[in-house]
Amino acid sequence: MSELINLAYLVAAILFIMGLKGLSSPRTAVRGNLVGAVGMLIAILATLVERQVLSFGWIIAGMVVGGGIGAYIARMVKMTAMPQMVALLNGFGGGASLLVALSQFILAPESDHTVPWLVALALSTLIGAVTLTGSVVAWAKLEGFAEQAMKLPAQGTLRVALGLAVLVVAAFFVWLEWGFLLFLLAVVALVLGILLVIAIGGADMPVVIALLNSYSGLAAAATGFVLMNNGLIISGSLVGASGIILCQIMCKAMNRSLGAVLFGGAMVSEEQMASIPGKEFYEGKVKSCGAEEVAMLLADAQRVVIAPGYGLAVAQAQYATEELAKVLGKRGADVKYAIHPVAGRMPGHMNVLLAEAKVPYERLVEMDNINPEFPQTDVVLVLGANDVTNPAAREDAASPIYGMPILDVDKARTVVVVKRSLSPGFAGIPNPLFINDNTLMLFGDAKAVLQDLVRAVQEL
Ligand code: TAP
Repeated sequence: MSELINLAYLVAAILFIMGLKGLSSPRTAVRGNLVGAVGMLIAILATLVERQVLSFGWIIAGMVVGGGIGAYIARMVKMTAMPQMVALLNGFGGGASLLVALSQFILAPESDHTVPWLVALALSTLIGAVTLTGSVVAWAKLEGFAEQAMKLPAQGTLRVALGLAVLVVAAFFVWLEWGFLLFLLAVVALVLGILLVIAIGGADMPVVIALLNSYSGLAAAATGFVLMNNGLIISGSLVGASGIILCQIMCKAMNRSLGAVLFGGAMVSEEQMASIPGKEFYEGKVKSCGAEEVAMLLADAQRVVIAPGYGLAVAQAQYATEELAKVLGKRGADVKYAIHPVAGRMPGHMNVLLAEAKVPYERLVEMDNINPEFPQTDVVLVLGANDVTNPAAREDAASPIYGMPILDVDKARTVVVVKRSLSPGFAGIPNPLFINDNTLMLFGDAKAVLQDLVRAVQEL
């Protein structure tokens, strides 16, 4: 029997890896998700058989209640609220690891209490507790229930002190095996989780969520050692590793170091803040236009690139965008979408939004592949994107976003920027793209503007 169970865990692990591979491209993401879910079902069934938890009443009740809540949340959550949901789910994962570790200390037979097992128990408690409270704070901030970046007095010192304290308590617990030390470790780690996340805010939050996701995986892997469950060890390690890789990708795309994110380093320093110009930056230099003018430009264009950003998500303009792309396609234009890795507020934001509107995957082109095409592009439509198109990131060494990779939309023949005003984007800085000679500003809500454009092109 045990060979069969281990074989089931192996199959589940292979399916997890295939699922992750599938998630690396929008074309295969849905299948990847399904393959991963099947892997998880196999792992759960193997665990139930291994542990002789074969009360079908409980299993069915668990699946109905858990599956029902999951399906409801997945259907109801707005695309713009995905980071909050992920934060909460990470927190649940951390909380589960914490509870399993505490209960195993009480329930496991004395003979299990070897040093490696106690180390795993302490790690599961520590990382699980940090993940739980850290994720709840992240969720509260993103929901607007807590202040963005709260600075407490002597916060840095307090964090270091608590960090050292958890290590010392964990070491004493492994040495002495006193139950009260394990509970003390849990309490100090819960406070540490709050302190680690409370000072972080703004653009850094999604990176923190990816990091907490990685922590929840590490906690699960440690719990796997506590329970001697191979499936949990493998799946936890995969989550831990993929969370860290995601963090790195996001930090690189936002031009931030992980250290600066974790220690609450400001994205824009105080000196930079003082020198950032306001709306006077644009005074008298912006060329604004109407939908009819842009419709004429688009009607004559052979190559059109759409650069979507956070504003497109806010306006829920993905369907109107694809409608325009179809209308232009019928007139013979080649229309592509330029996807920046951090356009929007979380990784994959634009891919998911556009997939919702059934944009064919082959028309979604990643930044590195689309950038060489901009000089041959007739019209770029920048839809509710700002920072990810800001040429200052390429050209102005004094800019807070200098070095951040951007979509080189300014190199196209004509750039049309659709947004409601001259307000800055997430980074809070002006965008010289808006005053370039080849840029036209089309002010308005992205969805309404796109509907006007569709109408105007069709009337030509
Ligand atoms: P942003 O730079 O934030 O710009 C979005 C623009 O959308 C705003 O300038 C806003 O201008 C416009 N907008 C808002 N509502 C609109 C509406 N209804 N219709 C039309 N326009 C609307 O967005 P981006 O270019 O996508 O850049 C993303 C930013 O988020 C980057 O700074 C990135 O570092 C940060 N970030 C991203 C991630 C990930 S993983 N994606 C994670 C953390 C941080 P108006 O108000 O004038 O309309």
